[in-house]
Amino acid sequence: MGAIAVLDFGGQYSHLISRRIRDIGVYSEVLPCDTEASSLLKINGLKGIILSGGAASAYSEKSPKCSKDLLSIGVPVLGICYGHHLIAQLEGGKVSAAGSGEYGLTETQIRSKSSLLKGLGPKIKAWMNHRDIVESLPEAYSITASTKNSPIAGFENTEKSIYGVQFHPEVSHTEQGDKILENFAVSVCRAKKQWKTQGIINDIISEAKKELKGKKAVIALSGGIDSSTAAALLSKAIGKKLTAIYVDTGLMRHKETEFIIKAFSKFPLKLKIIKASGLFFKNLKGVVDPEKKRKIIGNLFIKIFEKEARLEKATVLVQGTIYSDRIESGITKNSSVIKSHHNVGGLPENMNLRLYEPLRNLYKDEVRKVAKETGLPEEISGRHVFPGPGIAVRILGEVTPEKAEIVRKASHIIEQELKLKKLYSKVWMAFAVLLPVKSVGIQGDARSYKYPIVVRIIESKDAMTANFAKIPYDVLEKISARITNEISQVNRVAYDISNKPPATMEWE
Ligand code: XMP
Repeated sequence: MGAIAVLDFGGQYSHLISRRIRDIGVYSEVLPCDTEASSLLKINGLKGIILSGGAASAYSEKSPKCSKDLLSIGVPVLGICYGHHLIAQLEGGKVSAAGSGEYGLTETQIRSKSSLLKGLGPKIKAWMNHRDIVESLPEAYSITASTKNSPIAGFENTEKSIYGVQFHPEVSHTEQGDKILENFAVSVCRAKKQWKTQGIINDIISEAKKELKGKKAVIALSGGIDSSTAAALLSKAIGKKLTAIYVDTGLMRHKETEFIIKAFSKFPLKLKIIKASGLFFKNLKGVVDPEKKRKIIGNLFIKIFEKEARLEKATVLVQGTIYSDRIESGITKNSSVIKSHHNVGGLPENMNLRLYEPLRNLYKDEVRKVAKETGLPEEISGRHVFPGPGIAVRILGEVTPEKAEIVRKASHIIEQELKLKKLYSKVWMAFAVLLPVKSVGIQGDARSYKYPIVVRIIESKDAMTANFAKIPYDVLEKISARITNEISQVNRVAYDISNKPPATMEWE
């Protein structure tokens, strides 16, 4: 095994570096730029360090720095963009602002084919995003690449095994960027390509066997990909000592409970289905305020889960927290608090359960691969995300069992039609929203006065921003026809053409 640590100096591509290295088959983790050499040396199998890009100027007093010790802890170091400047400065070279910057694809001459740049042609188009340049080389360094405006676009000191590139090999536009990262991780750092899906699964199962030996654990199974994958994997480690608690709130997806029972029947865990829809609808009666709805649902869920977990006499709470959840929470070390944005709204710490997060080091696409290879159906591994409060946030106004059924059916039709046209996996989310108004229509020669359904289909990369999906009209027309034909309470369908911002993805 081998690991490459990426020190994050605030660059927008820091995680991309780590992901590319993992795609090559080498484990990589992003750490804050001020991580001490002593902490880095504790990383299991540390083989190399990459200093990321960043928006600051290395010569500015306030810019983020790392200790010079990092350059001599015994593993190779690669600096990218800001990291390249920082190395130059720490080693006695000079960094300054150039007359003009370089942004986008830039012709770059490869001047020396040492281990880092071997296999590259004499010229590549490389992605640049900088104004500062390395003006003079540190002693004992040589130039490996240059461009018109950056004579020192790459340097190295092979003796010390320190390298720098001004451009971004992690950005897919850079020609042979993957080759450069592979050269660094595999040829220079000598890390083995062992970060493969089956290996990840084996590691998680064997760690869980060790960590949870003789203990009973519970997990809140939502049917989402993360909790499903965590439950499936841990069931392979501790079998029936894991109880997966699935609460049917009445606000879940179409035929979700039956689906969960079927999907998990082949895993050796104890599956507890708690049918609580009556209780949820009773508590939601008359409530129209979105935040009140969320609170009621979250609190009820916690109460039910807590009770069931106590009955199991479990000492460990398993959560499907993944790497990006920890980044969002600002936690880059092993998480020790229950994540605040967890689907169920956060479980109380007084439950006195030890938290265990088997997927804590995986990116979402890795979780999808693990889910597939562990034996979870495609319907789970390729699923869209689903909000914790379920369809309650897609029913404007009061939530009733009848309205829940309308939204569920309409959302199912939308999903079916998108899957038929192979569009489902291309969009972030697709669902129906029910409005608390009625409009006039004409059906079977008679006037009707029924609910409208809003179809919301969105594209997004990170949930922070989103665009409405430009779905072909014939697909929208079929969705509309099926909704009004198959759901007797609906006579009108509208397509939501708002982006985020100013709208949010959900309507509440
Ligand atoms: P918005 O509506 O804020 O949604 O653009 C962004 C993403 O977050 C999901 N979402 C939630 N997830 N509990 C959750 O677990 C919630 O209360 C909640 N509200 C929104 C939403 O589905 C989308 O993926």
